[in-house]
Amino acid sequence: MIEDKIPNVGYSEKELFSSLEKLKCKDIDWKNGKTFGAVYYPGYKYAKVISKAYNLFMHENAFDPQLFKSLLAMENTLVKQVSQLFSNKNFIYGNLTSGGTESIFLALLSAREWSHKYRKIENPEVVLSSTAHPAFLKAMRFLKIKPVVIQANNQLSIDLDSFENAINENTILLVGSAPAYPYGMIDPIDELSKMALKHKLLLHVDACIGGFLLSYLKKLGYQIPDFDFSLEGVSSISVDLHKYAYAPKGSSIIYYRSEELRKNQFSVFSNWEGGIYASTSFMGTKPGGIVASSWAALNHIGEDGYLQLTKKTMDATNLIKDYIENHDDLSLIGNPQMSLIAFKSDTMNIYQLADKLNDIGWYIGRLQNPAGIHLVISQIHADGAAQEFINDIEEIITSIKKRPIKNTLENAGDKITAKILNLMSFNKLKHTLVKAASKDKQSKNKKRIIYNVKQGLELEDSDELFRSIMDGFYK
Ligand SMILES: Cc1ncc(COP(=O)(O)O)c(C=O)c1O
Repeated sequence: MIEDKIPNVGYSEKELFSSLEKLKCKDIDWKNGKTFGAVYYPGYKYAKVISKAYNLFMHENAFDPQLFKSLLAMENTLVKQVSQLFSNKNFIYGNLTSGGTESIFLALLSAREWSHKYRKIENPEVVLSSTAHPAFLKAMRFLKIKPVVIQANNQLSIDLDSFENAINENTILLVGSAPAYPYGMIDPIDELSKMALKHKLLLHVDACIGGFLLSYLKKLGYQIPDFDFSLEGVSSISVDLHKYAYAPKGSSIIYYRSEELRKNQFSVFSNWEGGIYASTSFMGTKPGGIVASSWAALNHIGEDGYLQLTKKTMDATNLIKDYIENHDDLSLIGNPQMSLIAFKSDTMNIYQLADKLNDIGWYIGRLQNPAGIHLVISQIHADGAAQEFINDIEEIITSIKKRPIKNTLENAGDKITAKILNLMSFNKLKHTLVKAASKDKQSKNKKRIIYNVKQGLELEDSDELFRSIMDGFYK
């Protein structure tokens, strides 16, 4: 019904919502726990109240602290409330941002500015592990900071010796994650903190995904190593509210140990013709709805609610973890400390399993080193989805094993397809894959072929290929 042109006369509410419902029908069934990651939903009871708060402030703007006193009060309250998870001091300094990526950007920006001002560093470098989230590389690309990436060690954790050896006079900041996304393992933040103090460096802890959950796991008696401002060397922490705090999308906090560090993230242009301009984050206009709904999430769910949601999350996690640990064909990768699980197979093609799970409506992540499946488990999986997922894996593996010849042929066929694609000129390959990826069709998932093709490409070509595939989606 809706065309690529703004209608001369707007559609009625009924017509619009009928279109929206039709569009939504094509979406993944996330409310039944089919997504492992991307969606964090606290359940209808909480979500109803959180959305109401969003709607009440949907048109207000949190850009200017003097404009809506309500929004300023809410942002300051929630920054103080969440700070108590990471510090027993009276106050640490934070702001609400639009997400983990923005919080990380700001931490790097303030580190760069601060180090320029106080250490006169002109060519800043940041040392991080290969398991750190790509948001760091993305930010450094924008901010012209040199990333020094240290390959994770055999235990998939930070290689502390190589980390320390990489420090030089241009190093401004070390990065640790609690936990790192790929294997759900917490970096040795205590050791990094000592290293930062020894070399007089800043240390950022990326607790975007883990900040909330790990804090409540601690309260439930889990042995979680310190990863916060109780460690003297930690200078900033990012924590997302739109993940395990169950706020709507677009909500994270960046914290600093000192006021001075935070001030370096602010953008101020006091001579601008349009008036004195000052903003706390990357956003100019800042949605009032997200401030109010994040505030509502914290204060409606409350400690009791978060403890319960954390228990549910871990029940679902343990169910899946036990299943994988006891499976002859599957094994966990690393030693996950919360609800992020990675697993692989030594007996079958794990990407084939991943594609078949996609075919029947599951959204899961894929890992590359080693090849694996990645799950972000949350409370939504505790009401049956975790068990359903296990049943589906079981069924797929049984059916693959029942027809070994068909399966060998299928895998060989995939390899041949990948080889043929790799023999094409790069432009032809790009064209073919862009076309295939952007087709809105209900055919079987074949991401495993893309992963095979990728292995035959230089990094520069593979980046260009995926840039083109992205380009193809937005047409
Ligand atoms: C550890 C970690 N850091 C940063 C991010 C980036 O957060 P966002 O997608 O909210 O920008 C994520 C996202 O999953 C993450 O897991």
